[in-house]
Amino acid sequence: MCGIVGYLGDLRATDVILSGLKKLEYRGYDSCGICFHDQTSGNFLTYKDKGRVNHLISDFDYGFTNHFGIGHTRWATHGAPNHINSHPHASASGRFVIVHNGVIENYKELIARYLPAISFVSETDTEVIANLIEYFAVSYPVDLAIRKTLAILEGSYALLIIDTRNPKVLYAGKNKSPLLCGYRNDGICLASDLMALVGVSSDYYVIEDKTFVKVEVADSGYQFSMYDPIGIEYTPMRHEVNLNDDEINKAGFPHYMLKEICEQPSVIRKIMTNYIVDGKFFVDQDILDMFANRKRLYILAAGTSMHAGFVGKALFENITKIPTEVFIASEFAYNKPLLEEDAVFILISQSGETADLRACLVDVKKMGYDTLTITNVKTSTLAREATKFLEIFAGPEIAVASTKAYVGQIAILSILAYVLADKPKIDLIKELSKLAVAMEAIIDKREYIHDLVKNHLVKRNCFYIGRGIDYYTCLEAALKLKEISYIQTEGFAAGELKHGTIALIEQDVPVIAIITQNHIDKNTRSNIQEVRARGADVLIISTNHTMKAEDDIVLMDVHYLLSPALAVIPTQLIAYYKALDLGRDIDKPRNLAKSVTVE
Ligand code: F6R
Repeated sequence: MCGIVGYLGDLRATDVILSGLKKLEYRGYDSCGICFHDQTSGNFLTYKDKGRVNHLISDFDYGFTNHFGIGHTRWATHGAPNHINSHPHASASGRFVIVHNGVIENYKELIARYLPAISFVSETDTEVIANLIEYFAVSYPVDLAIRKTLAILEGSYALLIIDTRNPKVLYAGKNKSPLLCGYRNDGICLASDLMALVGVSSDYYVIEDKTFVKVEVADSGYQFSMYDPIGIEYTPMRHEVNLNDDEINKAGFPHYMLKEICEQPSVIRKIMTNYIVDGKFFVDQDILDMFANRKRLYILAAGTSMHAGFVGKALFENITKIPTEVFIASEFAYNKPLLEEDAVFILISQSGETADLRACLVDVKKMGYDTLTITNVKTSTLAREATKFLEIFAGPEIAVASTKAYVGQIAILSILAYVLADKPKIDLIKELSKLAVAMEAIIDKREYIHDLVKNHLVKRNCFYIGRGIDYYTCLEAALKLKEISYIQTEGFAAGELKHGTIALIEQDVPVIAIITQNHIDKNTRSNIQEVRARGADVLIISTNHTMKAEDDIVLMDVHYLLSPALAVIPTQLIAYYKALDLGRDIDKPRNLAKSVTVE
């Protein structure tokens, strides 16, 4: 959560930082701010406010020569989103200015021990860090003052630090929250996300936890150095910035979410291309060995990724016959069930940075379990820290509501189940190809779905009902609708509704039923009659082989284990169009952020 960008180089720093912040806004968008060095006056200027980056861009003047600065876009944790709590924050004398992504858990203890006399301006833990650096800088050189500060911080941080007495050095620190160092001959950019480096850096380096970073201008050009906690310099791994502008702009779509929904067939095909070698699915032998003869699989995830995990359970239990359990990461971290010893943990995360999941990873590693992360971000913390990882290859997902990463997760889970099975009874290459075609067919009918939405979902509460594997789709469908339209929605096992919740059904309450399986068709249709009898406005999503004349959306037939990746698409479109008609901020819904890096 929160996006940070810092730059020292030949380009105009405010251009790099503001365009970087715009690209990172999906990480948090309560408020934002920037501090940069005005070379004409020699002063550092700070602009910040509640609201979006566009406000920062249009309401302040950047007509100065400037080549050095830091910026931040915030998802509030400590203190309300307002001008005062916006980053950057300065130390009491104004000497040190910092931006911070993360949460400092021991900030109260640090105030009591080191800073009892300081009167803080904001409610943030970040201001404490700036003042700690100032406290240590009284007795130590700046490098050491920052390293001493980093050593006593507990929690997560990606920090960019300016010493206003030295406009030629940008300092940084990193623990748990992501931070990358982008490099090009003409300057260095530090950012919490690869997207901010596009167009500015040719290479990037992933900064390890507990690292202190120094970026400076030397006679030979711009250079950076990275030090581990005991002060030993290390050389990080170099990667190429291989994203291009097309992948991170809207490509003519009005919203990222619609673009990403429409990309889903190509995501399936891209995954196949990346995982098929010589006409067969290929997964690293070490991963196969890690799973060999295991008695149980545990899947950990949050939100949409957890819904993919439920589908994963169906895939593993049907294809590999290995019993599989799914847990909510935030619950598992603090309330562990009785665990089988001979097991592997699979962590599913689009961002690879979800703090709840990382807490689980740390725990299960301590217990000695092997772990596999399935993620869309190969440089993410969860990818690096798990025993092994599998990449989703969905391309950057920028809308806060996850769509293509979800179907990508299901595809990866199906491939993993397939390669682990002795004699899989599914022709997965054929079935995934069929899935991509069926996805295209329903995406092509999106205007029809828009029309359906205009005439339905008039009440401000809604139910998705389904049985078996369709129930998992209902959970995901409900989450999608509520998070972007703010309509209260529940995903319900169709048979369970009558055990209490049916009391909420009254005239015109929308109930959307999903029926992709023959064996539950009759039962779910009885449940539809029950709600119709009480006035519900029912929409039915079915498939060619389950369809009846009354159905509203009919999908092509695909393998039943892959049906959630198809049936979810009309529900994503329902959510999208309802939110559109209600005038919601679709790509950046209120109170949310793309990557949830706080527990
Ligand atoms: C909803 C959504 C969230 C995430 C959840 C986990 O559209 O995106 O529910 O799925 O916050 O995030 P990741 O997958 O990044 O671990």
